[in-house]
Amino acid sequence: MGRISQRIASISESPTLAVASKAKALREAGRDVIGFGAGEPDFATPSYIVEAAVEACTNPTYHKYSAASGLPELKEAVAEKTARDSGFVVDAGQVLITNGAKHAVYAAMATLVDDGDEVLLPAPYWVTYPEAIRLAGGVPVVVHAGVQQDFRVSVDALEAAWTPRTKLLVFVSPSNPSGAVYSRDEVEAIGRWAAERNVWVLSDDIYEYLVYGDAEYVSMTGIVPELQDRSVIVNGVAKSYAMTGWRVGWMIGPPDVIKAASNLQSHSTSNVNNIAQVAALAALRGGMDSVESMRVAFDRRRRTMYRMLGEIEGVQVVEPRGAFYAFPSLKAFLNKPRGSGATSTSKLAELVLEEALVAFVPGEAFGAPGYARFSYALADDQIEEGMRRLAKFLNG
Ligand SMILES: Cc1ncc(COP(=O)(O)O)c(C=O)c1O
Repeated sequence: MGRISQRIASISESPTLAVASKAKALREAGRDVIGFGAGEPDFATPSYIVEAAVEACTNPTYHKYSAASGLPELKEAVAEKTARDSGFVVDAGQVLITNGAKHAVYAAMATLVDDGDEVLLPAPYWVTYPEAIRLAGGVPVVVHAGVQQDFRVSVDALEAAWTPRTKLLVFVSPSNPSGAVYSRDEVEAIGRWAAERNVWVLSDDIYEYLVYGDAEYVSMTGIVPELQDRSVIVNGVAKSYAMTGWRVGWMIGPPDVIKAASNLQSHSTSNVNNIAQVAALAALRGGMDSVESMRVAFDRRRRTMYRMLGEIEGVQVVEPRGAFYAFPSLKAFLNKPRGSGATSTSKLAELVLEEALVAFVPGEAFGAPGYARFSYALADDQIEEGMRRLAKFLNG
């Protein structure tokens, strides 16, 4: 009998956090590191949101436990926002407020997946999905899409991976780590396929507002209404409102699923911090101006990064169209003198951090060896300097 349960011992530290902490340690040691590792906006939370939280602190109601599934007024605001942005009507009773969208992913997997159930997971994938699937006893079935497919899986690829044990498809557009955004037709085709195959869909909409150029966010559940009884939407305020540290997300689904997930929550975390919930409510009720100004800044940085990555000979990059990540292929630098002999992107990431003081997350973390994730949620001049250092390291 081991000290740590097998289920938990099989989980590794989130590799995205691992890179960020190594970069932080170097920075604390006085080194001038440029960090492309972090998956969060570099902006402060807009002041009207902070002010609402400060006021909530003085209200004794919020010093007490509240309903485990979330403050009723926040659930109402989430339902309204979903009708507006995703195009389908949900009742506040179909909303569960969670400790961030990450917790909603965990809750959704725990609620839907049984031992041995297969979950279709397009790769490159966000690091938490496979672990959350396994924690629930499920089996991640990875469906790859590389630069040639612009990181978007097709219905044919999903069909090829489908078996009678397939319970769920994980769908995220805009995507972390690839920055890919599926077209309206693609979202609809995949949604129709899932509906026909009786496959549940977990749609992670956390980057819905962060789309650029002619890319658009399309809600799969909104566009394929047959999915409403078999889909779960995960979302939150972290990325759009620069609120990663506040830890407020939510899960939306059919009433029985939300009831079951609420039961789980009532025995695990109870309610999400009331002050943070009030802050999230202020965010959702406060209009889109601050979201839009951050989006415009990300778009400018995106173009800088895309251009500079493209200028590095050997780097293969697809234009990122959403979220705040670029996901180039660095395969041309593996096992080559110009990659200092690195045999994997993990090794290359270590060398680049140590020698060029530039941090990025190797593709291995996302089920896509040979690639690397560069976040462009940092100041324009930092992006430029980091890209110059990378180019110098790679091509001398
Ligand atoms: C695709 C995706 N979903 C969910 C999350 C988690 O968001 P939160 O901070 O609300 O837990 C992230 C954060 O990196 C993400 O990239």
